[in-house]
Amino acid sequence: MSLLLSPVEIAGLNLKNRVVMSPMCMYEVKKQDGVVTPFHFGHYGARAIGQVGLIIIEATGVTPDGRISSQDLGLWNDQQKMELKKLVDQLHYLGSQVSLQLNHAGRKAEDADYPLAPSAIAYNEEFATPNEMTLDEIQSVEQAFVDAVQRAVSAGVDMIELHGAHGYLMDQFLSPLTNQRTDQYGGSLENRYRFVKEVVERVRAIYQGPLWIRLSLTNYADPKEQNSIEDFQQIGQWLEQAGINCLDISTGGLLDRQPNFPIHAGYQTPFATKMKEAVTIPVATVGLLSDPGMCEYIVENQQADLVVLGRELLRNPNWLAEAANDLHDHGFKVYNHSYQRGQMKNVAERKQFGDAK
Ligand SMILES: Cc1cc2nc3c(=O)[nH]c(=O)nc-3n(C[C@H](O)[C@H](O)[C@H](O)COP(=O)(O)O)c2cc1C
Repeated sequence: MSLLLSPVEIAGLNLKNRVVMSPMCMYEVKKQDGVVTPFHFGHYGARAIGQVGLIIIEATGVTPDGRISSQDLGLWNDQQKMELKKLVDQLHYLGSQVSLQLNHAGRKAEDADYPLAPSAIAYNEEFATPNEMTLDEIQSVEQAFVDAVQRAVSAGVDMIELHGAHGYLMDQFLSPLTNQRTDQYGGSLENRYRFVKEVVERVRAIYQGPLWIRLSLTNYADPKEQNSIEDFQQIGQWLEQAGINCLDISTGGLLDRQPNFPIHAGYQTPFATKMKEAVTIPVATVGLLSDPGMCEYIVENQQADLVVLGRELLRNPNWLAEAANDLHDHGFKVYNHSYQRGQMKNVAERKQFGDAK
């Protein structure tokens, strides 16, 4: 059996394999009410049938103005919670563990009436200049995260991921490029980390289950102007002390710019490995991962503990069955007997199974 496709326990989460579906906004909430739609049942259900061990449901706004776009999911009211619960129940029925990524988009909330950010610096010319958050607004957004966590828990999710990456509000607080505050939330690394720390601590006070955070370890900026890898290793250690169970490592999104180094399969994995050197909690890696051999290599060589797939799973919800084939993992089980019949591609195999038609 391959390591990639074998079960693992990650801080209280029992996963049937080490393959995670990356959170990906689907912009399918046409009514703009933040509520799960029939699309989400089909979309996530297909990946659960495809045997993905852990599905992280897309970035979900903790407030209306915290959504990346008005067609995102939200979790600031009980109707959203009730419909989310139906989706979580369905994915459990299909055999996946389920998580939800909670987010406040800050200055990158494209449809916000009143965008918030640590400092009044716009993302680019197409985005509104955000309002520098008052201390009351900081408290209120922290409370919105806590309230959304409470709803996610009562909807039955197995894990909660905080979105600390890709230039959204938490990332905006962490970076000196977007946080130019002069109070206790800006200045030193410790001060810039304060907002994230307070969210994590307030969440931990009401929720003891698995809690992850996604971080962007570089923003392709001048190393003198952005947080260094060492800064992020320090943040990772603080997050571990604060009770985070797994760090999901990505890059980019804070600035309107592309990577300043060559992009290739697994290009973000070295950042995950760097983080692994600094912490004892598990670390997940994401980014252009689709070759099963490479994914197996990453977990076997402890470059990361879990492999997170985004666009590959959009292309192919049945990636795991193909990976099992590639890795000669004969123990891998597709969803059921009927799906097994679909795996037999030639007459000889079908005959052996008594299924020659
Ligand atoms: C359509 C789409 C939507 C995305 N939405 C999110 C999101 O909601 N949260 C997040 O952390 N990343 C989001 N991402 C980034 C992916 O989760 C992932 O990190 C990125 O695509 C790199 O992985 P990949 O090469 O396997 O796709 C999105 C990516 C895509 C393609």
